[in-house]
Amino acid sequence: MTEYKIALVGFGGVNRGLAQLIVERNAAWQTELGFSLKIVGVSDLFLGSICDPTGLDAAHLVALPPVKGAFAQLAGGSAEAFNETVIKHSRADIIAEATFTNPVDGEPAATFCRWALEAGKHVVTTNKGPIALHGPELSQLAKANGVSFEYEGAVMSGTPVLRLARQSLSGAGVRGFEGILNGTSNYVLTRMEEGLSFAEAVAKAQELGYAEADPTADVEGHDVRLKVVILANELLNARLQVGDVTCSGISSISTADIGQVRASGARWKLIGSAHREGDGSVRASVEACLLPSSHPLVGISGATNAVSFNTELLGAVTVSGPGAGRIETAFALLSDIIAIHAANH
Ligand SMILES: NC(=O)c1ccc[n+]([C@@H]2O[C@H](COP(=O)([O-])OP(=O)(O)OC[C@H]3O[C@@H](n4cnc5c(N)ncnc54)[C@H](OP(=O)(O)O)[C@@H]3O)[C@@H](O)[C@H]2O)c1
Repeated sequence: MTEYKIALVGFGGVNRGLAQLIVERNAAWQTELGFSLKIVGVSDLFLGSICDPTGLDAAHLVALPPVKGAFAQLAGGSAEAFNETVIKHSRADIIAEATFTNPVDGEPAATFCRWALEAGKHVVTTNKGPIALHGPELSQLAKANGVSFEYEGAVMSGTPVLRLARQSLSGAGVRGFEGILNGTSNYVLTRMEEGLSFAEAVAKAQELGYAEADPTADVEGHDVRLKVVILANELLNARLQVGDVTCSGISSISTADIGQVRASGARWKLIGSAHREGDGSVRASVEACLLPSSHPLVGISGATNAVSFNTELLGAVTVSGPGAGRIETAFALLSDIIAIHAANH
């Protein structure tokens, strides 16, 4: 029976969700998946850090109150986040990186990934920053060190997209994709179809916890742009940088614009897309698009995400599901660990 030692970097919604899944399902994973997980280290800017090579009690970690320096309450714990120690010296086989997304340079998460990969540890992450900004370099570093770098959750949380396209659509000739890749903006557009103004719909999204206090990254397309870079580089071998993707959002769309087309079945959606052109180059954009009633993404409402792959052999192949949620995204980390297990057995 395989037992992977895992260290969690960042202990907010996602990694706390993974610890909760370990509490609830580790025994079942032994029989269903052929491995179990043991947490040997955790670090978090807010909570502090703790390491124990013999294993930490996941239930204790999950139950810890979200108060500053809380890890100092545990024997051997500290109120300070010793990220480097936890990553390099916790004896973990796998580092689960789930700190905040920095859309400018991907740091410090990219450095956390480098430390882990250089130390010969597998990395699983849900953080778009390091992948959109340093993905090819980090994948190369993983290869050079004989370990895996997996990031399924970075695009659509637990809904399978990257591995599905890479594995199950390989050979089908993926020419491009179109996606609804931001639940907040799709929720806002859906509420505007019911007559709310843009500002009212954003306020509703904030009330429900879908939108941040500053919703700019969601409604102006910046979040989707990172996801388009990740998908295009992964599926179309594009080598795009963030600045290569033209980007606009939904803030200029009015309730009247939406109302005018509603009866025809057409709907406005924020679409992130990339396609291979005849000359081999890849064109990518994020923009509000008026989708006809026949479009595979037209029926995707509320906070749901979806991506439609344009393939040579199958035509459009569309996947939809949650694009956020702490347990949903923790599941993405599990799916990455399952992939690592499969690659090593
Ligand atoms: N939640 C989702 O639905 C979802 C879906 C897909 C992808 N993701 C991505 O997954 C990652 C984690 O998301 P989350 O929802 O768990 O976020 P979160 O609840 O904000 O947790 C992130 C944690 O990381 C800590 N942190 C920040 N910088 C750190 C550093 N330098 N060293 C150590 N810890 C640090 C934060 O501490 P402070 O609070 O003190 O900053 C916080 O406790 C993010 O990159 C997010 O974009 C999330």
